[in-house]
Amino acid sequence: MCGIIGYVGQQPAVPIVLEGLSQLLYRGYDSAGVSGLISPGVLRIVKQVLPDGQFDDFKAKVEDSRFPESCTNAIGHTRWATHGGRTVLNAHPHCDGSGQIAVVHNGMLENWRELKAELIGLGCRIVSETDTELIAHLFALKLQETKGDIRQAILSTVSSLQGANGILLQYARYPDLLIGIRKGSPLSYAKLDDGAFMVASTGDPFLPYTRRCKHLRDGDIIIIQGGKVEEFSFHNGRRIPVSIPSVELEGSAEDVALEGYPHFMLKEIMTQPERLPDVLGGRLRLETGLVKLGGLEASSLALKKLKRAKHFWFIGCGTSYHAAQIVARMFRQHLHVHAEAKQASEVTLDDILSGCSPGRSVVFALSQSGETKDLLDAIEYLRARGVGLVAGIVNVVGSSLVTLTDGAGVYLRVGPEIGVASTKAFSSQVLVGAMITVWLAQQRGQLSPDQSIPFVRAIAEIPEQLRVVLAQSEAIRKLAEYIMKFTSLMMLGRGYHYATALEGHLKVVEVSNMACEVQPAGEMKHGPLALVTDGYPVVMVATRDSSRTAILHNISELQARGAFVIGITTDGDTEMAKIVNQAIYIPDTPPELATILAATSLQLLAYHLGLLNERNVDKPRNLAKAVTVK
Ligand code: G6P
Repeated sequence: MCGIIGYVGQQPAVPIVLEGLSQLLYRGYDSAGVSGLISPGVLRIVKQVLPDGQFDDFKAKVEDSRFPESCTNAIGHTRWATHGGRTVLNAHPHCDGSGQIAVVHNGMLENWRELKAELIGLGCRIVSETDTELIAHLFALKLQETKGDIRQAILSTVSSLQGANGILLQYARYPDLLIGIRKGSPLSYAKLDDGAFMVASTGDPFLPYTRRCKHLRDGDIIIIQGGKVEEFSFHNGRRIPVSIPSVELEGSAEDVALEGYPHFMLKEIMTQPERLPDVLGGRLRLETGLVKLGGLEASSLALKKLKRAKHFWFIGCGTSYHAAQIVARMFRQHLHVHAEAKQASEVTLDDILSGCSPGRSVVFALSQSGETKDLLDAIEYLRARGVGLVAGIVNVVGSSLVTLTDGAGVYLRVGPEIGVASTKAFSSQVLVGAMITVWLAQQRGQLSPDQSIPFVRAIAEIPEQLRVVLAQSEAIRKLAEYIMKFTSLMMLGRGYHYATALEGHLKVVEVSNMACEVQPAGEMKHGPLALVTDGYPVVMVATRDSSRTAILHNISELQARGAFVIGITTDGDTEMAKIVNQAIYIPDTPPELATILAATSLQLLAYHLGLLNERNVDKPRNLAKAVTVK
């Protein structure tokens, strides 16, 4: 939520910051801004609201502003509005009253009301509605108090900020200075080969320049000055020197480029057959049926807790929550344990551990970004209640979620996901969930590797089977054209496929903004059926599994009222294919894995509906990819 970036070095900084910003747009695209230090003491700031998330006009405006080549220190921001509307005045960077200090910020100041009153009382003139501007004024005041001691001023500023925040700060008096703060929201930095530094909300913008970077840990502060960096952490207002570990960046520059695709969403759907083998790589032994998950086996304590656990909680938000529902069901089916999925935002409001033994409860936190605030809060809440183990199922290496786990988890390894609507991350989360299910069944002695062979092979076949689904993109586009005759549609499924329908529904709503009713198919008779008129489009996930007979009844009930039923059916189920009005085919596989194939067909449907509705499919209205606020 909000992308921040900065560069200080020998090269013209603004083009580098602009390029990086274009890669951070998925974090928020209400407005964008840059601040370049054009001469000692002078900052030039350009900012603009982004209509429909379009970056090109802003880029042109910055280019027209002719930042001099000698401007080698710049910061930039792409905003997802929290405090104050989508206006130029509220766009970052924000300055103090003297215009000497510029700040870009990701997060939310929880004590902004008190701080604002205090600053106004001290004579500060606050011009925007944002909480960010307060940080600039505060730092300016602290500089005065400390007679220009940057280190003391920054410590004192940070001590006054509450909430989860990532901050990057320029001080025009020092053309070679950049200050980065991680207090709850992510921030990373890299030293480039020529001695320059880049700082950003994620490591992706560094990829064209370097493969190594450092992810600040919570409470870490960096002061870059004179080509050197000082790393420290603050505790009770004291400065403690630290050494932030350097890590290898995942992914490549190609991962964050369109590579000929018109949209990231389409690229990320279509390239799944090539990306998903990395999710499985080295983890499955097809000959013996053995599953190896290093991230869960490395700690003997974690392994012991997993083997002894009686209760499993799968928590996530949005798409990750839908994957969590599927994985929880797999645990119930294959491990015969108490396993439940819960939206992370609801966890802190509900005593979910009631009746459970906390010490014998395990939490799996699912997340693409690893930065979703509600998820991080839920983990802390459950940990405080004594939950036995927290493990992660996460894509972004080094993300905040990883630091909150008990050193246990499985990385998705599916590469950077840029489209705001999650697609390949869903598929990889379900695949990883399936592997964890079999792995734990083997560890607990519930399944021998030999008995696991058919399921393990079914998992391994998914990437290739997806090709059959992707080849139907044009047929799915035609179905989208049919749906366009209506203002809404319905999506139904039973069992595992209720979660599939929920995920399809989420994709359609966020990407195309069409109204979409979603229900377990059996519930349709208790209300949603009233929506059905002649030709009304209903998407029914109707694969060959134990719900097939009931689904056939539901289809008849819908068609009797004139519905046009688009069935996602198992290839070879000719009876089902004949009964539905139009079929999308998926290859045969167990229902828990069919969720991936069926959901992918719905991702394509949402994509085509988005285009037909002339929506920006990569940057859905009002949304952002990494939701780092409550
Ligand atoms: C946002 C994104 C969704 C994503 C959700 C959870 O709402 O737009 O695509 O599913 O956050 O994100 P996470 O990174 O935790 O999976």
